[in-house]
Amino acid sequence: MKKMLIMGPPGAGKGTQAESIIKYYNIPHISTGDMFRAAISNKTEIGMLAKKYIDAGNLVPDEVTVGIVKERLSKPDCKNGFLLDGFPRDIHQAEMFSDMLKELGISIDLVLNIHVDHEKLVNRIIGRRICPKCGRTYHITYNKPLKEGICDDCGTSLIQRKDDNVDTVKNRLEVYSHQTEPLINYYKDLVVNIDGDRDVDVIFEDIKKVIGE
Ligand code: AP5
Ligand code: MG
Ligand code: ZN
Repeated sequence: MKKMLIMGPPGAGKGTQAESIIKYYNIPHISTGDMFRAAISNKTEIGMLAKKYIDAGNLVPDEVTVGIVKERLSKPDCKNGFLLDGFPRDIHQAEMFSDMLKELGISIDLVLNIHVDHEKLVNRIIGRRICPKCGRTYHITYNKPLKEGICDDCGTSLIQRKDDNVDTVKNRLEVYSHQTEPLINYYKDLVVNIDGDRDVDVIFEDIKKVIGE
């Protein structure tokens, strides 16, 4: 069972856990947020379109998002499994996703739902730093690089995401509560809840037990 979704509010640790999961299970990490950020930095048409929604913390329109997911899931490296992060993000996307899966002949085995109290998320997000080259995620207090401001893996200077500021985070949390959280009930038969308010490694050990070998 390796065709999985990882869900949870902004800052819950989806990307952080995904880094470990995809290495351990050797499956691709499909993050719509990462795909949009790459498109923005490459100034593609999709990037230009997505930018204003992401900077405000709102959802990018479905016709853009669903298309990029379908294209990615059709690639051969997804045959033996994948970890989708950040998609689907509301009921309408989940319904379109369900049609897409039927067309592609795929089914989802597991939905990991990482839970962290909302008041803790703002700190996590404001302190996040990311590597613009390899994508690795850090935190200025909870997950420091060996050398301040520099990626351990590739030596690149770390940056802050443009949507990681107090105002945008508030809206992202509201969008999550109104639009994304109802998916936990939508996927109730596949959902396993994970307590995300523990050490990164402890959480990953738990996730491995849930996924199995
Ligand atoms: P997206 O990139 O998906 O962002 P998000 O959902 O807001 O989630 P984050 O990436 O902020 O959090 P995360 O859970 O990955 O946390 P992380 O591991 O980094 O989406 C961004 C935007 O793109 C959206 O707002 C929207 O505009 C657009 N978009 C994306 N998908 C879309 C879709 N399907 N439809 C429409 N629009 C879409 O961790 C956070 C921090 O905490 C890090 O600093 C980390 O080091 C630290 N940390 C992690 N785990 C722990 C721990 N256990 N203890 C302490 N600190 C920890
Ligand atoms: Mg993320
Ligand atoms: Zn790096």
